[in-house]
Formats: sequence, C-alpha cells, structure tokens
Amino acid sequence: MLVSATEMLKKAKAGHYAVGQFNINNLEWTKAILQTAQECNSPVILGVSEGAGKYMTGYKTVVGMVNGMLEEMNITVPVALHLDHGSYEGCLKCVEAGFSSIMFDGSHYPIEENVAKTKELVKICAEHGMSLEAEVGSIGGEEDGVVGAGECADPNECKMIADLGIDFLAAGIGNIHGKYPANWQGLSFETLDAIQQLTGEMPLVLHGGTGIPADMIKKAIDLGVSKINVNTECQLAFAAATREYVEAGKDQQGKGYDPRKLLAPGAEAIKATVKEKMELFGSVNKA
Ligand code: 13P
Repeated sequence: MLVSATEMLKKAKAGHYAVGQFNINNLEWTKAILQTAQECNSPVILGVSEGAGKYMTGYKTVVGMVNGMLEEMNITVPVALHLDHGSYEGCLKCVEAGFSSIMFDGSHYPIEENVAKTKELVKICAEHGMSLEAEVGSIGGEEDGVVGAGECADPNECKMIADLGIDFLAAGIGNIHGKYPANWQGLSFETLDAIQQLTGEMPLVLHGGTGIPADMIKKAIDLGVSKINVNTECQLAFAAATREYVEAGKDQQGKGYDPRKLLAPGAEAIKATVKEKMELFGSVNKA
C-alpha cells in the first residue's frame, strides 16, 4: 500500500539521513526502483513529473501500475507516489487519481499567491491523508542550451511557507536540474543553514541531485536535507547501458531484439544508480 511521505521524512530528519526521490518514466523504471528499494530495505519516493504522467497516459495509469507492482512484487518497504513540480490543477488531478503525496511548485508566483494556493492544498492534502511539498526560490536548469543559475531562496519566505502546515519544503540553494555546468558555484550552505535555523523540524528537500559531489550531499544532509531528488542520473545510466548493448550488436544476436532483453541492461544500470544513491543518502536498512 502506498504511504504518504510524512513519516518517512520525519524519521529521516531525526535520524540524519535522506530518502531518495527517483523519477519514473515507464514500467522498467518503476520496477527497477522498487526492486532496489526492497533489496536495500530502504524507504523510497517515486517522483512523477507532469510530463512523465502524460507520457504514461495519465495519473490513473501510474497509480494502477504502481499499486499493482507493490502487490505482485511483495514490496514491504514504505513507498510514496509523489507528483513532482505540480501545477495547482495537476495537484488536484493527482489527489483524485490516488497519489499519496504531491509537490506544489508555486515558486514562479509572487509569494502572496504561492502562500494562498499552498494553503488551499494543505487543507486538501490533510483531508486525504497525503503529504505536501512546497517550493520557494525557483530551481534553475538547462533549457534550450541556456543554463539558468540556481536561485537562492529567501529564508524568511521559506519560514512563511513552512508555517502553512506543509510536510516538507524545497528551497533553492544554488542547485539546478540536469547536469551541472563546469563553472557551477556549488551549493550555498549559508542559505541552507539560514533556512534550517528558521524552519526547525521541517524536512528540507534538495532538488537536482544529479552530479552533486558526495561531500556536498553529506553536508546538506547534516544541515537538514531529508529528501533528495534524482532524475537525470538514472536517464544517463539507462541510455549509456542501452547504447553499449546496441553498439555491441547484441540486438542482432539471437532474440536480442526482444524488448525484455533490449531494455534489461538499462534497467540494471538504473538499479545500480539507485543503490549507490541510497547508500550515499544513508537510507539503507531504514525501512
Ligand atoms: P536531476 O534531474 O538533476 O537529478 O533533478 C531531479 C529533480 O530535482 C526532480 O525534481
């Protein structure tokens, strides 16, 4: 059964480790992440972006697939199904579809509007036993070749949103989605520390987990980060393993073209990536 992410992240914050959110794109991704979480005895959060939700034909399909897998694969570790960077409308759709957690990304609204919309969702999530993540300070990333610098959130605005009754807070601390550029300045621990001092017990979320050096990840966890999102790294690992298979001509040997064979190396690569992250984040055996 799916659970909200509230309990697992409270435990993570108190225990000084972080739970990974790994984004899913299809059946292979979901299966690989669930298998790894079970093998590592780790809690896990499956992230679904609005784009990935559409790709999988809609949120109801995702809920059906994940619930089916939890049962058929005998998954016993805590699993949350979480909307990643949701719009207000997307959040409502996921509540209806049976997600157990949502992120409302109101970071592009003026703070008053972010507050008003987040407040409404706090009420709706409470009614459904779901967890809610909110965001302050937009998280940059590469779009059409233009790299946006990771913004640093205003700690006072973080406190304002944290006090609305959300369950965990994403705050920009110089992190960005996708690969980090060579001239990246690194995470702003000063900002993170200031946010953590004002928000206290609130679990903090680090987006853009791909490519952040291990020592920075550990320091971020020390300063109150309890959830780390990883997406691109699984995509890169999947693509590289699939490329290797095809370049070695394996799809042309025997029945190597069978999708169950063709996609297997990529799935194994995702499993290895997720395991490595769970070890780094300290969530192994924390189920
Ligand atoms: P990366 O793709 O950089 O790992 O970021 C993932 C993320 O933050 C999803 O919200």
